[in-house]
Amino acid sequence: MKGLILSGGKGTRLLPLTYRRAKQLIPVANEPVLFRVIRAIRDAGITDIGIVIGDTGAEIREAVGDGSRWGVKITYIEQSAPAGLAHAVKESLHFLGDERFVMFLGDNVIQGGISPLIQQFANSNWNSQIVLKRVPNPQQFGVAELNGDGSIKRLVEKPKNPPSDLALVGIYMFDHHIREAVHAIRPSFRGELEITDAIQWLVEHGYAVHPYVHEGWWIDTGKMADMLSANDHVLEELVPRVEGTIDEASKIDPRVTVEKGAQIINSTVRGPTIIGENTQIVNSYIGPFTSIYHNVIVENSEIEHTIVLEHCRIINVGTRIQDSLIGRNAYITQSDRKPKSINLNLGDYSQIDLV
Ligand code: TTP
Repeated sequence: MKGLILSGGKGTRLLPLTYRRAKQLIPVANEPVLFRVIRAIRDAGITDIGIVIGDTGAEIREAVGDGSRWGVKITYIEQSAPAGLAHAVKESLHFLGDERFVMFLGDNVIQGGISPLIQQFANSNWNSQIVLKRVPNPQQFGVAELNGDGSIKRLVEKPKNPPSDLALVGIYMFDHHIREAVHAIRPSFRGELEITDAIQWLVEHGYAVHPYVHEGWWIDTGKMADMLSANDHVLEELVPRVEGTIDEASKIDPRVTVEKGAQIINSTVRGPTIIGENTQIVNSYIGPFTSIYHNVIVENSEIEHTIVLEHCRIINVGTRIQDSLIGRNAYITQSDRKPKSINLNLGDYSQIDLV
């Protein structure tokens, strides 16, 4: 089998973080979401992996390289426009050939591995297998309606009146019949070739599409709140390790990971939390569910339930920063200057919530 990861798209919902960055490279628990996806596919025994890229392709190529770091071979497929998931498949057909494949959305995070699923499909004569998850807000997803015997009756994309609460999770398996489907379907009302329509086409033409209902957590990291909740879940599962240094004056919870070269000085860190490579935490408090990426300086400040990206400096911030996502190279500080005021120098699409 081959693997296909979709990492093109526009990422408009994650602005400003995606202003100049591929959303698939935003880290949760200090590992880019895309790397986690590559590992999941590799762990299922698949080593021939195509990555669909768009405008942010250069950055993805640079971060992922040829895949040898994970023991896989990566082929990049440039999508001519972000015109839908089925469009991405259509433009990947030369890579896929006639082999069965698993397709994984490069911005989705799922609990556990996908090896059993892949094995099940590889050993079956199904033409497709889709992964479903019960969600409270099916209106926002592709939704499956099942027959009494558990087989698929129909699929609908973002329905106003959802026929069930079973959303399509961003993992799909296909055989070569998907080729006919992506050629047969037409663009939806939003102008995209929808994968839901292609699967519906398979169902209507008598092909065997097997539904699998996933019981663990699954997060489509489309928005900021999703990113934080993916970070919560992954941090909770992380096996802690301390590779950096912690001085005697610091108090560190056992669920804290301190990466290589990080320094914790006279600070309190509560887990689950991860402190990135060469980051310095000085005279500060870092609360649970926080991921601080590489080369960050936090001094005389408090941070909790937050993702901080690389090269940020957070210095003398007396008010606790929480429930936040802080992009690369941000500088946040506070002083005693009078009159008291807030000075902002924000990038496009930034959001500030003062309480
Ligand atoms: P989406 O999150 O559905 O779309 P998007 O990336 O354009 O984001 P937004 O809605 O915030 O603008 O995409 C799911 C995944 O599939 C994501 O990793 C991007 C990828 N993708 C492609 O590779 N090609 C495409 O044409 C589309 C629409 C998405």
